[in-house]
Amino acid sequence: MTPVSAQAATAVVAAVGSALPSCTVSNDELTARLDTTDEWIRSRTGITRRHIAGADQSTADLAIRAAAQALTSSEPEHVDALVVATTTPDRCCPATAPAVATRLGLTGIPAYDLAAGCTGFLYALATGSGLIAADTARTVLVIGADRLASLPHPDDRTTVPLFGDGAGAVLLRRGSADETGALGPMVLGSDGTGADLIRADRPGALHMDGADVFRHAVDRMTNASRQAATAAGWDLADVDRLIPHQANSRITSFVARQLGVPDDRRLSNVAEVGNTGAASIPLLLDHASSDGRLAPGHRTLLTAFGAGLTWGALTLTWPDLSRTRLPQGAPHDR
Ligand code: COA
Repeated sequence: MTPVSAQAATAVVAAVGSALPSCTVSNDELTARLDTTDEWIRSRTGITRRHIAGADQSTADLAIRAAAQALTSSEPEHVDALVVATTTPDRCCPATAPAVATRLGLTGIPAYDLAAGCTGFLYALATGSGLIAADTARTVLVIGADRLASLPHPDDRTTVPLFGDGAGAVLLRRGSADETGALGPMVLGSDGTGADLIRADRPGALHMDGADVFRHAVDRMTNASRQAATAAGWDLADVDRLIPHQANSRITSFVARQLGVPDDRRLSNVAEVGNTGAASIPLLLDHASSDGRLAPGHRTLLTAFGAGLTWGALTLTWPDLSRTRLPQGAPHDR
Protein backbone atom coordinates (compact mmCIF):
# COMPACT_ATOMS: atom_id res chain seq x y z
CA MET A 1 0.00 0.00 0.00
CA THR A 2 1.24 3.48 -0.77
CA PRO A 3 2.13 5.19 2.51
CA VAL A 4 -0.54 7.60 3.73
CA SER A 5 1.05 10.92 4.48
CA ALA A 6 0.42 12.79 7.69
CA GLN A 7 -2.78 14.84 7.75
CA ALA A 8 -3.80 17.94 9.69
CA ALA A 9 -5.25 15.91 12.57
CA THR A 10 -2.72 13.26 13.49
CA ALA A 11 -3.03 10.41 15.98
CA VAL A 12 -0.63 10.76 18.90
CA VAL A 13 0.26 8.09 21.47
CA ALA A 14 -1.14 9.22 24.82
CA ALA A 15 -0.79 6.12 27.01
CA VAL A 16 0.19 2.45 27.01
CA GLY A 17 -0.72 -0.55 29.10
CA SER A 18 -0.34 -4.31 29.05
CA ALA A 19 -1.45 -7.50 30.71
CA LEU A 20 -0.08 -11.02 30.98
CA PRO A 21 -1.63 -14.09 32.57
CA SER A 22 0.10 -14.92 35.84
CA CYS A 23 0.76 -18.56 34.90
CA THR A 24 4.10 -19.12 33.12
CA VAL A 25 5.36 -22.26 31.39
CA SER A 26 9.14 -22.64 31.08
CA ASN A 27 10.98 -24.54 28.38
CA ASP A 28 11.93 -27.14 30.98
CA GLU A 29 8.25 -27.66 31.82
CA LEU A 30 7.54 -28.23 28.11
CA THR A 31 10.23 -30.90 27.89
CA ALA A 32 8.22 -32.97 30.37
CA ARG A 33 5.46 -33.47 27.78
CA LEU A 34 7.08 -32.75 24.38
CA ASP A 35 10.07 -34.29 22.59
CA THR A 36 12.16 -31.12 22.79
CA THR A 37 14.87 -29.44 24.84
CA ASP A 38 15.41 -26.06 26.43
CA GLU A 39 18.54 -25.69 24.29
CA TRP A 40 16.64 -26.36 21.02
CA ILE A 41 13.91 -23.86 21.82
CA ARG A 42 16.29 -21.16 23.06
CA SER A 43 18.76 -21.46 20.21
CA ARG A 44 16.03 -21.46 17.50
CA THR A 45 13.71 -18.85 19.01
CA GLY A 46 15.24 -17.03 22.00
CA ILE A 47 12.18 -18.01 24.06
CA THR A 48 12.65 -19.25 27.61
CA ARG A 49 9.08 -19.10 28.90
CA ARG A 50 5.60 -17.93 27.94
CA HIS A 51 2.52 -16.79 29.88
CA ILE A 52 -0.55 -18.99 29.43
CA ALA A 53 -4.13 -17.93 30.17
CA GLY A 54 -6.25 -20.22 32.30
CA ALA A 55 -9.48 -21.71 30.98
CA ASP A 56 -11.38 -18.97 32.80
CA GLN A 57 -9.31 -16.13 31.31
CA SER A 58 -10.56 -14.93 27.94
CA THR A 59 -9.10 -12.66 25.27
CA ALA A 60 -11.53 -9.99 26.51
CA ASP A 61 -10.26 -10.38 30.09
CA LEU A 62 -6.68 -9.75 28.95
CA ALA A 63 -7.74 -6.86 26.71
CA ILE A 64 -9.63 -5.19 29.56
CA ARG A 65 -6.66 -5.38 31.94
CA ALA A 66 -4.30 -3.86 29.37
CA ALA A 67 -6.79 -1.13 28.44
CA ALA A 68 -7.60 -0.31 32.06
CA GLN A 69 -3.91 0.21 32.72
CA ALA A 70 -3.58 2.57 29.75
CA LEU A 71 -6.69 4.51 30.83
CA THR A 72 -5.57 4.77 34.44
CA SER A 73 -2.23 6.21 33.39
CA SER A 74 -3.85 8.92 31.25
CA GLU A 75 -7.36 9.53 32.60
CA PRO A 76 -8.87 10.80 29.35
CA GLU A 77 -12.16 12.67 29.52
CA HIS A 78 -13.58 10.57 26.72
CA VAL A 79 -12.78 7.46 24.79
CA ASP A 80 -14.55 7.82 21.47
CA ALA A 81 -13.83 4.44 19.86
CA LEU A 82 -12.24 1.08 20.69
CA VAL A 83 -10.57 -1.45 18.39
CA VAL A 84 -9.46 -4.93 19.44
CA ALA A 85 -6.95 -6.58 17.13
CA THR A 86 -7.10 -10.32 17.69
CA THR A 87 -6.81 -13.67 15.96
CA THR A 88 -8.42 -15.39 18.93
CA PRO A 89 -11.75 -13.65 19.62
CA ASP A 90 -13.76 -15.11 22.46
CA ARG A 91 -16.51 -16.17 20.03
CA CYS A 92 -17.09 -16.23 16.27
CA CYS A 93 -19.98 -13.86 16.87
CA PRO A 94 -20.31 -11.29 18.34
CA ALA A 95 -17.00 -9.47 18.23
CA THR A 96 -14.95 -9.18 21.42
CA ALA A 97 -14.65 -5.38 21.40
CA PRO A 98 -18.22 -4.35 22.40
CA ALA A 99 -18.00 -6.50 25.55
CA VAL A 100 -14.57 -5.05 26.30
CA ALA A 101 -15.94 -1.51 25.89
CA THR A 102 -18.92 -2.21 28.14
CA ARG A 103 -16.82 -3.81 30.87
CA LEU A 104 -14.59 -0.70 30.75
CA GLY A 105 -17.65 1.50 31.29
CA LEU A 106 -17.68 2.65 27.66
CA THR A 107 -21.05 1.33 26.48
CA GLY A 108 -22.26 3.24 23.44
CA ILE A 109 -18.98 3.98 21.69
CA PRO A 110 -18.09 2.28 18.38
CA ALA A 111 -16.17 -0.92 19.19
CA TYR A 112 -15.05 -3.57 16.74
CA ASP A 113 -12.55 -6.37 16.19
CA LEU A 114 -9.92 -6.47 13.51
CA ALA A 115 -8.15 -9.64 12.35
CA ALA A 116 -4.79 -9.31 10.61
CA GLY A 117 -2.76 -11.99 12.37
CA CYS A 118 0.31 -10.79 14.22
CA THR A 119 0.20 -7.54 12.21
CA GLY A 120 -3.23 -6.80 13.70
CA PHE A 121 -2.02 -4.16 16.13
CA LEU A 122 -0.42 -2.06 13.37
CA TYR A 123 -3.56 -2.40 11.23
CA ALA A 124 -5.61 -1.31 14.27
CA LEU A 125 -3.34 1.71 14.79
CA ALA A 126 -4.00 2.60 11.16
CA THR A 127 -7.79 2.45 11.56
CA GLY A 128 -7.63 4.32 14.88
CA SER A 129 -5.48 6.94 13.23
CA GLY A 130 -7.97 7.14 10.35
CA LEU A 131 -10.90 7.72 12.75
CA ILE A 132 -8.97 10.63 14.25
CA ALA A 133 -7.90 12.06 10.88
CA ALA A 134 -11.53 11.90 9.68
CA ASP A 135 -12.65 13.68 12.86
CA THR A 136 -14.87 10.74 13.77
CA ALA A 137 -13.04 10.36 17.08
CA ARG A 138 -10.72 12.41 19.29
CA THR A 139 -9.42 9.48 21.30
CA VAL A 140 -9.25 5.82 20.26
CA LEU A 141 -8.29 2.88 22.43
CA VAL A 142 -6.31 0.42 20.30
CA ILE A 143 -5.85 -3.00 21.89
CA GLY A 144 -3.94 -6.05 20.70
CA ALA A 145 -5.03 -9.17 22.58
CA ASP A 146 -4.45 -12.82 21.81
CA ARG A 147 -4.51 -16.27 23.36
CA LEU A 148 -2.23 -17.73 20.71
CA ALA A 149 -1.20 -20.60 22.96
CA SER A 150 -4.68 -22.04 22.31
CA LEU A 151 -3.97 -22.51 18.58
CA PRO A 152 -1.31 -25.27 18.37
CA HIS A 153 -2.17 -28.91 18.96
CA PRO A 154 -0.89 -29.57 22.51
CA ASP A 155 1.40 -32.38 21.22
CA ASP A 156 2.96 -30.39 18.34
CA ARG A 157 6.54 -29.68 19.36
CA THR A 158 7.11 -27.53 16.28
CA THR A 159 4.55 -24.88 17.31
CA VAL A 160 3.69 -25.20 21.03
CA PRO A 161 6.99 -23.67 22.24
CA LEU A 162 6.53 -20.53 20.11
CA PHE A 163 3.33 -19.00 21.40
CA GLY A 164 2.05 -17.24 24.52
CA ASP A 165 -0.96 -15.21 25.66
CA GLY A 166 -1.24 -11.53 26.52
CA ALA A 167 -2.57 -8.10 25.66
CA GLY A 168 -1.31 -4.57 25.12
CA ALA A 169 -3.13 -1.28 24.64
CA VAL A 170 -2.32 2.16 23.31
CA LEU A 171 -4.56 5.20 23.73
CA LEU A 172 -4.43 7.46 20.69
CA ARG A 173 -5.48 11.09 20.92
CA ARG A 174 -5.97 13.81 18.36
CA GLY A 175 -2.83 15.90 17.93
CA SER A 176 -0.50 17.27 15.31
CA ALA A 177 2.22 15.72 13.18
CA ASP A 178 5.03 17.75 14.76
CA GLU A 179 4.38 16.45 18.30
CA THR A 180 6.38 13.63 19.85
CA GLY A 181 4.22 10.52 19.82
CA ALA A 182 2.62 11.39 16.46
CA LEU A 183 2.23 8.33 14.27
CA GLY A 184 4.24 8.62 11.07
CA PRO A 185 3.26 7.40 7.60
CA MET A 186 2.12 3.77 7.68
CA VAL A 187 3.08 0.98 5.37
CA LEU A 188 0.66 -1.98 5.36
CA GLY A 189 0.37 -4.94 3.04
CA SER A 190 -0.99 -8.44 2.52
CA ASP A 191 -0.49 -11.44 0.24
CA GLY A 192 -3.17 -14.14 0.27
CA THR A 193 -1.06 -16.48 -1.84
CA GLY A 194 0.68 -17.27 1.46
CA ALA A 195 -2.58 -17.93 3.33
CA ASP A 196 -1.75 -21.60 3.96
CA LEU A 197 1.67 -20.94 5.47
CA ILE A 198 0.14 -20.14 8.89
CA ARG A 199 -3.41 -21.36 9.32
CA ALA A 200 -5.75 -22.73 11.96
CA ASP A 201 -9.23 -23.96 11.08
CA ARG A 202 -10.02 -24.15 14.79
CA PRO A 203 -8.16 -23.91 18.10
CA GLY A 204 -5.73 -26.84 18.45
CA ALA A 205 -5.26 -27.20 14.69
CA LEU A 206 -2.51 -24.71 13.89
CA HIS A 207 -0.40 -25.52 10.86
CA MET A 208 2.76 -23.56 10.15
CA ASP A 209 5.39 -23.94 7.48
CA GLY A 210 8.21 -22.69 9.72
CA ALA A 211 11.01 -22.23 7.21
CA ASP A 212 8.87 -20.38 4.64
CA VAL A 213 7.29 -18.23 7.33
CA PHE A 214 10.76 -17.36 8.61
CA ARG A 215 11.88 -16.21 5.16
CA HIS A 216 8.73 -14.16 4.50
CA ALA A 217 8.82 -12.61 7.98
CA VAL A 218 12.38 -11.34 7.49
CA ASP A 219 11.75 -10.05 3.94
CA ARG A 220 8.40 -8.42 4.63
CA MET A 221 9.43 -6.68 7.86
CA THR A 222 12.69 -5.49 6.31
CA ASN A 223 10.99 -4.05 3.22
CA ALA A 224 8.10 -2.46 5.13
CA SER A 225 10.57 -0.89 7.57
CA ARG A 226 12.60 0.59 4.76
CA GLN A 227 9.47 2.03 3.13
CA ALA A 228 8.16 3.50 6.39
CA ALA A 229 11.51 5.11 7.18
CA THR A 230 11.73 6.58 3.68
CA ALA A 231 8.15 7.89 3.85
CA ALA A 232 8.96 9.57 7.16
CA GLY A 233 12.15 11.08 5.75
CA TRP A 234 14.25 9.07 8.21
CA ASP A 235 17.64 7.54 7.55
CA LEU A 236 17.77 4.03 9.04
CA ALA A 237 21.00 5.04 10.77
CA ASP A 238 18.91 7.50 12.81
CA VAL A 239 16.61 4.82 14.25
CA ASP A 240 17.17 4.69 18.02
CA ARG A 241 14.81 1.80 18.71
CA LEU A 242 13.57 -1.02 16.47
CA ILE A 243 10.40 -2.62 17.90
CA PRO A 244 9.69 -5.65 15.73
CA HIS A 245 6.84 -8.09 16.25
CA GLN A 246 8.23 -10.63 18.70
CA ALA A 247 7.94 -13.71 16.48
CA ASN A 248 11.30 -14.97 17.63
CA SER A 249 14.73 -13.48 18.22
CA ARG A 250 16.40 -15.07 15.18
CA ILE A 251 13.85 -13.41 12.89
CA THR A 252 14.13 -10.01 14.57
CA SER A 253 17.93 -10.05 14.61
CA PHE A 254 17.96 -10.88 10.88
CA VAL A 255 15.65 -7.92 10.26
CA ALA A 256 17.87 -5.59 12.30
CA ARG A 257 20.96 -6.81 10.47
CA GLN A 258 19.40 -6.31 7.04
CA LEU A 259 18.28 -2.81 8.01
CA GLY A 260 21.71 -1.98 9.41
CA VAL A 261 20.20 -1.18 12.81
CA PRO A 262 22.72 -2.09 15.55
CA ASP A 263 21.53 -5.03 17.65
CA ASP A 264 21.53 -3.01 20.88
CA ARG A 265 18.79 -0.82 19.35
CA ARG A 266 16.55 -3.84 18.65
CA LEU A 267 14.23 -4.25 21.62
CA SER A 268 12.93 -7.64 22.68
CA ASN A 269 10.88 -9.35 25.36
CA VAL A 270 10.32 -12.60 23.46
CA ALA A 271 12.41 -14.55 25.99
CA GLU A 272 9.77 -13.93 28.66
CA VAL A 273 6.53 -13.89 26.66
CA GLY A 274 7.03 -15.79 23.38
CA ASN A 275 5.00 -14.81 20.33
CA THR A 276 1.83 -13.13 21.61
CA GLY A 277 0.37 -12.21 18.22
CA ALA A 278 -1.44 -8.88 18.04
CA ALA A 279 -0.40 -8.19 21.64
CA SER A 280 3.29 -8.43 20.85
CA ILE A 281 4.15 -4.83 19.88
CA PRO A 282 2.05 -2.98 22.48
CA LEU A 283 3.29 -5.39 25.19
CA LEU A 284 6.87 -4.57 24.24
CA LEU A 285 6.11 -0.83 24.07
CA ASP A 286 4.73 -0.99 27.60
CA HIS A 287 7.53 -3.15 29.00
CA ALA A 288 10.29 -1.12 27.37
CA SER A 289 8.85 2.29 28.27
CA SER A 290 8.41 1.09 31.87
CA ASP A 291 11.96 -0.17 32.26
CA GLY A 292 13.61 2.72 30.38
CA ARG A 293 14.81 0.88 27.28
CA LEU A 294 12.36 3.07 25.35
CA ALA A 295 12.68 6.71 26.42
CA PRO A 296 11.11 10.02 25.38
CA GLY A 297 12.70 11.31 22.18
CA HIS A 298 13.74 7.90 20.84
CA ARG A 299 13.15 7.64 17.11
CA THR A 300 11.22 4.40 17.03
CA LEU A 301 10.44 2.05 14.14
CA LEU A 302 7.65 -0.51 14.59
CA THR A 303 7.29 -3.44 12.22
CA ALA A 304 5.18 -6.59 12.14
CA PHE A 305 4.43 -9.67 10.09
CA GLY A 306 1.77 -12.31 10.46
CA ALA A 307 -0.69 -14.84 9.10
CA GLY A 308 -2.52 -13.76 5.98
CA LEU A 309 0.15 -13.04 5.04
CA THR A 310 0.14 -9.52 6.43
CA TRP A 311 2.84 -7.00 7.28
CA GLY A 312 3.35 -3.40 8.23
CA ALA A 313 5.65 -0.71 9.63
CA LEU A 314 5.49 2.82 10.96
CA THR A 315 7.68 5.38 12.67
CA LEU A 316 7.14 7.60 15.68
CA THR A 317 9.23 9.58 18.12
CA TRP A 318 8.48 8.15 21.56
CA PRO A 319 6.56 10.65 23.73
CA ASP A 320 6.94 11.56 27.38
CA LEU A 321 4.14 9.62 29.06
CA SER A 322 3.52 10.36 32.69
CA ARG A 323 2.67 7.02 34.14
CA THR A 324 0.66 5.76 37.04
CA ARG A 325 -0.16 2.14 37.63
CA LEU A 326 -3.30 0.27 38.57
CA PRO A 327 -2.97 -0.94 42.15
CA GLN A 328 -2.66 -4.67 42.68
CA GLY A 329 -6.03 -6.41 42.82
CA ALA A 330 -7.81 -3.78 40.73
CA PRO A 331 -11.38 -4.68 39.76
CA HIS A 332 -10.51 -5.85 36.26
CA ASP A 333 -7.50 -7.89 37.35
CA ARG A 334 -8.82 -11.46 37.37
N1 COA B 1 12.39 -29.52 19.55
C1 COA B 1 13.26 -30.32 18.93
N2 COA B 1 13.26 -30.51 17.60
C2 COA B 1 12.35 -29.85 16.88
C3 COA B 1 11.40 -28.99 17.50
C4 COA B 1 11.45 -28.86 18.88
N3 COA B 1 10.61 -28.03 19.55
N4 COA B 1 10.63 -28.47 16.52
C5 COA B 1 11.06 -28.96 15.36
N5 COA B 1 12.10 -29.80 15.59
C6 COA B 1 12.86 -30.57 14.62
C7 COA B 1 12.12 -30.79 13.34
O1 COA B 1 11.24 -31.87 13.48
C8 COA B 1 13.23 -31.05 12.38
O2 COA B 1 13.64 -32.36 12.53
P1 COA B 1 14.01 -33.25 11.24
O3 COA B 1 15.18 -32.53 10.60
O4 COA B 1 14.36 -34.56 11.81
O5 COA B 1 12.78 -33.24 10.39
C9 COA B 1 14.36 -30.16 12.90
O6 COA B 1 14.01 -29.81 14.25
C10 COA B 1 14.55 -28.89 12.13
O7 COA B 1 13.30 -28.34 11.88
P2 COA B 1 13.19 -27.01 11.14
O8 COA B 1 11.74 -26.65 11.00
O9 COA B 1 14.07 -27.01 9.93
O10 COA B 1 13.85 -26.02 12.20
P3 COA B 1 14.20 -24.51 12.00
O11 COA B 1 15.62 -24.32 12.26
O12 COA B 1 13.60 -23.95 10.74
O13 COA B 1 13.39 -23.84 13.20
C11 COA B 1 11.34 -22.68 13.64
C12 COA B 1 11.98 -24.00 13.32
C13 COA B 1 9.84 -22.88 13.78
C14 COA B 1 11.88 -22.18 14.98
C15 COA B 1 11.69 -21.67 12.51
O14 COA B 1 11.36 -22.21 11.25
C16 COA B 1 10.98 -20.37 12.67
O15 COA B 1 11.34 -19.57 13.51
N6 COA B 1 9.93 -20.11 11.86
C17 COA B 1 9.11 -18.93 11.99
C18 COA B 1 8.08 -19.19 13.07
C19 COA B 1 7.31 -17.96 13.42
O16 COA B 1 7.89 -17.04 13.97
N7 COA B 1 6.01 -17.93 13.14
C20 COA B 1 5.15 -16.86 13.48
C21 COA B 1 5.31 -15.71 12.53
S1 COA B 1 4.22 -14.41 12.98
